[in-house]
Amino acid sequence: MVEFASDSGALIPVLQRAQAIYGYLPREALLEIAERRQTPFSDVYGVATFYAQFHLQPRGATVVRVCDGTACHVAGAPLITEAFSGELGIEVGKTTSDRLFTLQTVSCVGACALAPVVRVGDDETHGRMTPDRARALVNDLKHRAEVDR
Ligand code: FES
Repeated sequence: MVEFASDSGALIPVLQRAQAIYGYLPREALLEIAERRQTPFSDVYGVATFYAQFHLQPRGATVVRVCDGTACHVAGAPLITEAFSGELGIEVGKTTSDRLFTLQTVSCVGACALAPVVRVGDDETHGRMTPDRARALVNDLKHRAEVDR
């Protein structure tokens, strides 16, 4: 059990607001929050790194998550990840320089029957993914990003 020294509950909304402003939590923002709240930086950093909702690195407008849970891994998730990585030109955990895409791998997303599975943002699930479909999906996502500009 992780314990935080001060009022981490009150800190969460502050971190959420900062993340809404910057899109992530830059170190400078964490330092300022710690200073203004007269809270040790380690406490602020601890809360920011404990909760999955907080991001310490810039993220793309679209987050592509390749499931690498057991079922998806066995069904070829590493090849899917490789295809996304190659097509986006970034490694897992990174964001494209235009800040359009972030590529992540995640554990089981609860759709094992559709393995290998890819999630795009919070609303799209793509099952039975193949490397070719992954590359086509990237092109589609790039097209959608162009249309949205
Ligand atoms: S392991 Fe990928 S959806 Fe379950």
